[in-house]
Amino acid sequence: MAKVHVFDHPLIQHKLSYIRDASTGTKEFRELVDEVGMLMAYEVTRDLELDDVTINTPVTEMTAKRLSGKKVAIVPILRAGLGMTEGVLKMIPAARVGHVGLYRDPETLQPVEYFAKLPQDIKERDFIVVDPMLATGGSAIEAINSLKKRGATKIRFMCLIAAPEGVEALQTAHPDVDIYIAGLDEKLNDHGYIVPGLGDAGDRLFGTK
Ligand code: PRP
Ligand code: URA
Repeated sequence: MAKVHVFDHPLIQHKLSYIRDASTGTKEFRELVDEVGMLMAYEVTRDLELDDVTINTPVTEMTAKRLSGKKVAIVPILRAGLGMTEGVLKMIPAARVGHVGLYRDPETLQPVEYFAKLPQDIKERDFIVVDPMLATGGSAIEAINSLKKRGATKIRFMCLIAAPEGVEALQTAHPDVDIYIAGLDEKLNDHGYIVPGLGDAGDRLFGTK
């Protein structure tokens, strides 16, 4: 079964409180999401493989560690996933960025895919799928289906806020995908919004309604 990691780091919790706050404006919201994405990336990449390399310090030769050849790809779920991408890229600047576009049908809450563009060498990459919100889980499940259909095998999912319903659905659909969460909330409301949550992540990031 997939592991669920909930971050209790004080910096992440502090920033998340401002992200949740309804009085936080678009500019600050975007900056904070970027910063939390960066902090989370540090932990999400904890088990990336390392190789031994021989280097020369100014003092002597030594065996040091460098990231192995396994390449990373970040896949934001459009739109709101874009808000976390830059932060992750600051930690892994050589990563490729794929995109999967999904929106939730407001009536059925079912995800509808409208775009997918992924790196060519999909089988060789470690994927980090990013989206601020894991609500019913439908969007994350569908985005990961889309990656697996095209040959991806190693996938992690990272979000700011999750509802227990979404975590359970994602774990059931993709038991091989570890889930990284900054805040695990109480429940979904009747409109599929996370409670207490942060509202509509895409609208708050991009200043739309
Ligand atoms: C939001 C969010 C997730 C999805 C989560 O996107 O960014 O992708 O809802 O809900 P789920 O777990 O129930 O599928 P939305 O569909 O509002 O699109 P947007 O990113 O374009 O705003
Ligand atoms: N999508 C959002 O942006 N917010 C929620 O609370 C649920 C889905």
